[in-house]
Amino acid sequence: MRYREGLQDALHDVECQTHPGEKIGIVGRTGSGKSSLFLVLCRIVEIQKGSITLYNTNLQHIDLKDIRSRLAIIPQDPFLFSGTVRENLDPTSSHIDSDLNNVLERCHLKVPVDRLGGLEADVGERGRNFSVGQRQLVCLARALLTRAKVSN
Ligand SMILES: Nc1ncnc2c1ncn2[C@@H]1O[C@H](COP(=O)(O)OP(=O)(O)OP(=O)(O)O)[C@@H](O)[C@H]1O
Ligand SMILES: [Mg+2]
Repeated sequence: MRYREGLQDALHDVECQTHPGEKIGIVGRTGSGKSSLFLVLCRIVEIQKGSITLYNTNLQHIDLKDIRSRLAIIPQDPFLFSGTVRENLDPTSSHIDSDLNNVLERCHLKVPVDRLGGLEADVGERGRNFSVGQRQLVCLARALLTRAKVSN
């Protein structure tokens, strides 16, 4: 995989196989391609050569919406939308309040979110009302809510 024509490959000669339910750690020096591997799994960047099989199907043949709804990413740079806590946790409004509160509790966010005003509280411009660590926890909570089988 390479990010753009003319650039060197970001991923080259990668081969691995995982089994259902396994917890995998991908380790490597900075810039070695760990995040790129996940971009490839989400098909945000297409591969030039080789193939990826997910759920016994070639990734190229899986509907993009299906892929992305079944993967959960906790980004290195925690991304929050300007909006409410609720909108950030559950942008598609598919969960009931008790699920949202439960996940906040599990991510140790109940206290800071209550202090801010609860689920309807404004997170500020791209989450500025939270500390960076708390923003990472919001991203963790969002990922947990999806119950994805493949998560990073
Ligand atoms: N958006 C991009 N455009 C062009 N090249 C990129 C881009 N993102 C990453 N790269 C390049 O791809 C290679 C792999 O980067 P990647 O972000 O996957 O590393 P990483 O293993 O996640 O590193 P880190 O531990 O710092 O998060 C690096 O050489 C990097 O310069
Ligand atoms: Mg990375």
